[in-house]
Amino acid sequence: MTGDLRPIGVMDSGVGGISVLKKAVEIMPDEDFIYYGDSLNAPYGTKSIEEIKDLTFAVSEKLRAMGIKALCVACNTATAAAIKDLRAKYTDMPVIGIEPAVKPAALSTRGGTIIVMATPMTIKQNKFNELLKIYDKDAKIIPLPCDGLMEMVENWSDDKAPLMEYFDEHLKPALQDDTETIVLGCTHYPFIKKELREYLGDRDIALIDGAEGTARQIRRRLEEEGLLGDPDHEGKVTILNSSDDPKMIAISQKLLDMEIDRP
Ligand code: DGL
Repeated sequence: MTGDLRPIGVMDSGVGGISVLKKAVEIMPDEDFIYYGDSLNAPYGTKSIEEIKDLTFAVSEKLRAMGIKALCVACNTATAAAIKDLRAKYTDMPVIGIEPAVKPAALSTRGGTIIVMATPMTIKQNKFNELLKIYDKDAKIIPLPCDGLMEMVENWSDDKAPLMEYFDEHLKPALQDDTETIVLGCTHYPFIKKELREYLGDRDIALIDGAEGTARQIRRRLEEEGLLGDPDHEGKVTILNSSDDPKMIAISQKLLDMEIDRP
């Protein structure tokens, strides 16, 4: 049996979208993926909507020129700014985005507070505010703009001290006694789950993100459009980055191989 062997394009402002790519590879090991991190232009989360749109389109065009059959915008910020326009322009292929996992957090609320960590631009966007409007009737939701946090993943270091300081300065003031869930609303943040759990200590707080849901949505859309690959094919991943610093590919590969829910 043969299917559509063209690769799936996955993009992010940097290395964060690898958290989505990882899930996608787990779910679709028989597909080829091209991942493009725009680290040269990162962060997107502090730029204007127009700038983010232009950058997202520029990366999407590069991926399209490589013959992709579907595009996943594995960046909450770029999705919020550009997904409508991307879908309007690329009507010949599925375009899948990611948004902060507010819905699952709100639907499973036990009455406590939900904190949504995301980039300042994601939180400012209409798309996010519309999402909040739907769910904050039934749940207590606190949006927390996390300026500067994605950079700590981009410049990966095994020294956790700066992260702990960041949490102390930015997260601590938002934490309530009844905080029950933290939504990781930027694709970079799942990579610092271990340090975040350590910071939270024995507090019973769930950490959730949209990576798996997004990866499943890619598969669903491919299936709907008859674009799935060949189940006998051994999928491969190609990682590209706009930065010419070889460190970015090395960090990307490290994150792809890293266990996210590591002890
Ligand atoms: N990884 C990105 C997101 O999911 C954006 C980080 C940034 O470029 O500011 O929002």
